[in-house]
Amino acid sequence: MDKLIITGGARLDGEIRISGAKNAALPILAATLLCDGPVAVSNLPHLHDITTMIELFGRMGIEPVIDEKLAIEIDPRTIKTLIAPYELVKTMRASILVLGPMVARFGEAEVALPGGCAIGSRPVDLHIHGLQAMGVVINVVGGYIKAKAPKGRLRSANFFFDTVSVTGTENIMMAAALASGRSILQNTAREPEVVDLANFLIAMGAHIQGAGTDTITIDGVKCLHSASYKVMPDRIETGTYLVATAVTGGHIKIKNTDPTILEAVLEKLREAGAEIVTSKDKIELSMHGKRPKSVNVRTAPYPAFPTDMQAQFISLNAIAQGTGTVIETIFENRFMHVHELHRMGARIQVEGNTAIVTGINKLKGAPVMATDLRASASLVISALCADGDTLIDRIYHIDRGYECIEEKLQMLGAKIRRIPG
Ligand code: UD1
Repeated sequence: MDKLIITGGARLDGEIRISGAKNAALPILAATLLCDGPVAVSNLPHLHDITTMIELFGRMGIEPVIDEKLAIEIDPRTIKTLIAPYELVKTMRASILVLGPMVARFGEAEVALPGGCAIGSRPVDLHIHGLQAMGVVINVVGGYIKAKAPKGRLRSANFFFDTVSVTGTENIMMAAALASGRSILQNTAREPEVVDLANFLIAMGAHIQGAGTDTITIDGVKCLHSASYKVMPDRIETGTYLVATAVTGGHIKIKNTDPTILEAVLEKLREAGAEIVTSKDKIELSMHGKRPKSVNVRTAPYPAFPTDMQAQFISLNAIAQGTGTVIETIFENRFMHVHELHRMGARIQVEGNTAIVTGINKLKGAPVMATDLRASASLVISALCADGDTLIDRIYHIDRGYECIEEKLQMLGAKIRRIPG
């Protein structure tokens, strides 16, 4: 297993480009299954999760054509099996995103039930109930969700999500795109990645209104046509590099991003003392060598503060002036990074879904272990500003979500290298 070794203390300074958004690319790839012809998707990030989705397509008999820039062409008409096997689903929960498109387009699907995961129980009941409302018959047998559309085309549905779910909204929106009649989905996720998926579906001829609000109306069409689409920039990757720069007192120019979808995070960084200037697709952050001030954070569905930035802000508070409270409202077990940060000397107390973080002047490098994707990002951030060396084990979690992390950080002046294992 590869490890990262980081020698802390270098003040980050430089310019990087942001990659395509993982959480938009995954549903967009799944949505290509709905199309009646070949589809081209560009700006895919070079990440393990994307490779896993492509491998899943390969298992189903579809052979995507990929160029060196990771633009992909997929012809879903070549599909041979409608099964997403457990070996792949267990490594990436987002595989559940093929369920709605497969059953809507081909009338059946078998997708392994994702198990528990490091950050909580994460059920998929809403995905199942939404499809059932559209006439899909679902049985869970031998660890697989077996879905069938006995009447062929799905029927439209009015469906209320009793919890706001990002991939749940995406799965049902994709299925409704090919259903007969008008579906109205309520209490939908408003995340920008849902909007990007809707825009891709619209580019293929879907009739969708309201994406980005809490009510999405979909007038189903009989078929979707070929299209080309460029995936939006990754807001969580952007936020992670901003925090990494802030904890080192540095300066960064970020290109190919979108400041309008990161407002809650930029606001917290300003509160922490960062000077931030934005333009259309750029963000510049300067700390002028200052130590950040503690901030209070409460995660909630978009447009509020994202749970995927929570771990990074715990790292920021760990070295900030003062005490900051971080409340996690989305996932019940998302403080695994706290135990690892304790190993670096952080003063963090967890009470239920709240972490109370008292900033100290300097963390100390230590051997630590990545436990999930964003938790690993927080370990990298802490290592960058700690005294001495930090060895981060199990970095395959980082490779799931951060393209070329060591190259990008090296460009900013960080002392980081990968030790192949
Ligand atoms: C997506 C993101 C993930 C992010 C999360 C919350 C992708 C591929 N992943 O995950 O990075 O952390 O949104 O912003 O886009 N829930 C149910 N029943 C369901 C589905 C969800 O109770 O059927 C609950 C979950 O347990 C959780 C909450 O809803 O408490 C939100 O989860 P959800 O938005 O579904 O997360 P994902 O879509 O899996």
